[in-house]
Amino acid sequence: MSKIHNHDVGSPLSGIKLLDVGCGGGLLSEPLGRLGAAVTGIDPLEDNIRTAEQHKSFDPVLDKRVQYRNCSLEDMVEHGMESYDAVVASEVVEHANDLESFIQSCLQVLKPGGSLFITTINKTQLSYLFGILLAEKVMALVPEGTHDWDKFIAPVELERLLESSKSFK
Ligand SMILES: C[S@@+](CC[C@H](N)C(=O)[O-])C[C@H]1O[C@@H](n2cnc3c(N)ncnc32)[C@H](O)[C@@H]1O
Repeated sequence: MSKIHNHDVGSPLSGIKLLDVGCGGGLLSEPLGRLGAAVTGIDPLEDNIRTAEQHKSFDPVLDKRVQYRNCSLEDMVEHGMESYDAVVASEVVEHANDLESFIQSCLQVLKPGGSLFITTINKTQLSYLFGILLAEKVMALVPEGTHDWDKFIAPVELERLLESSKSFK
């Protein structure tokens, strides 16, 4: 296979050590592993890790590329575990009890110059309507109480928090 800058074209993330914080059932860990990254997925819920392990077992390619650990980000930081080229926190910050400290912890497990990727639900009237009212109370797609409006954050606020956290790293 042809190579660009030492990366396989078919594995653009090869050589990247990546932490998927709050990996749940491995929805993102798996595709990131297929793209070549060495992924560690962590989640404090044992059931989620069990589901992720089980789903991973269907694809032998993932055996060596994706590993899961049953722990929180805070546990990792406390035990001074490894550092990563990239940290992904997808749909996790809206569940954090202390967002500032969660972001600090993300930064602590990042290598110097590493990248932090965060996805979350915006704080808008629409996200209240769809994310809480419809999804939880009307259609019961997710259990009631899954989301807390007070924990939703607008991109501009998250950006401000990230900027201020950088200087404390
Ligand atoms: C909405 S799920 C997102 C799952 C997955 N990232 C995805 O996008 O499909 C949020 C997950 O974050 C986990 N979580 C919450 N706080 C965490 C923390 N402090 N450290 C690690 N995981 C956490 C929860 O257990 C839950 O599985």
